[in-house]
Amino acid sequence: MLRTALAAAGDSPGYPMALGTRELRTAAAGWLQRRLGVTLADPLGADPSVVPTIGSKELVALMPTLLGLHEGTVVIPEVAYPTYEVGAVLAGLAVRRTDTPPDDAAGIGLVWLNSPGNPHGRVVPDETLRAWVAWGRAHGVPVVSDECYATLGWDVQPRSLLHPAVAGDDHTGLMAVHSLSKQSTAAGYRAGLLSGDPALVRRVWEVRRHLGLLVPGPVQAAMTAALADDAHVDAQRERYRGRRERLAAAIRATGARIDHSEAGLYLWVTRDEDCWATVDWLAGLGIVPAPGSFYGPAGQRHVRFALTAGDERIDAAVTRLRNAS
Ligand SMILES: Cc1ncc(COP(=O)(O)O)c(C=O)c1O
Repeated sequence: MLRTALAAAGDSPGYPMALGTRELRTAAAGWLQRRLGVTLADPLGADPSVVPTIGSKELVALMPTLLGLHEGTVVIPEVAYPTYEVGAVLAGLAVRRTDTPPDDAAGIGLVWLNSPGNPHGRVVPDETLRAWVAWGRAHGVPVVSDECYATLGWDVQPRSLLHPAVAGDDHTGLMAVHSLSKQSTAAGYRAGLLSGDPALVRRVWEVRRHLGLLVPGPVQAAMTAALADDAHVDAQRERYRGRRERLAAAIRATGARIDHSEAGLYLWVTRDEDCWATVDWLAGLGIVPAPGSFYGPAGQRHVRFALTAGDERIDAAVTRLRNAS
């Protein structure tokens, strides 16, 4: 379905709009409403409340730069996807790792949240999201939530930072990042979204235009089609669910423990030993997880299994783990 929409829009020799087509912004606003219960301010207004991005990794890495931060600190989760730190370092900023609002806001220019989280699949509870909203607004610091696994809740339904139960009726100071990579298996299309506070989205969008960070027209057409169709997302979700159940059972059968992992695409596994000892053990079985230390010092005793491998690879891992149990 994405491929058909992409091909049908193939005759696109002109520059695409950084803002996104009206059709795409309308489809994105509809998706946010339908799937996440988020009502955007006018997505077609002069200050856009949603714009497309070239996947979400570039946006995450460039966010401090796009917001014009040149000094100070970026807050990132205690155990975090590395690109938040990369973006801070790129802009010459310091990083502070915390999962709760700090007492001292001095120098903090941006807060990143990630729920469901990579690598541990943890969902940030509503009361913590609300605490960050209140903290950000009290200190005039933008809070941006990376929600690229938002449609992949298993034991817990993830809540968007922009949901009215968290943000109230206006999105001042708040933005959310979404991606089609996982839910539509479209990582190769590079298709993401930034939404929320129209003033902040406008600031980011205006810089993106001048940097030439434009989502190609055919990809915008494919995104429009994907965001209007829940069936393929639900079908993919069931594939992930099956992999998760098979893999989790095999991991537990070895005596290892799975922490968090209530949502998203990862299993956060520990044998209560240094992650490199677990990596060694798994490498001996022909299985390569990500060592938890890649994601920060607090990840030192975990490894991350990804559900993004194909069914055949997951089943091979399950057999090897079962044989080692
Ligand atoms: C937390 C998180 N954010 C962002 C991304 C980037 O995804 P993409 O650039 O494909 O949208 C990933 C990819 O794995 C991720 O785990």
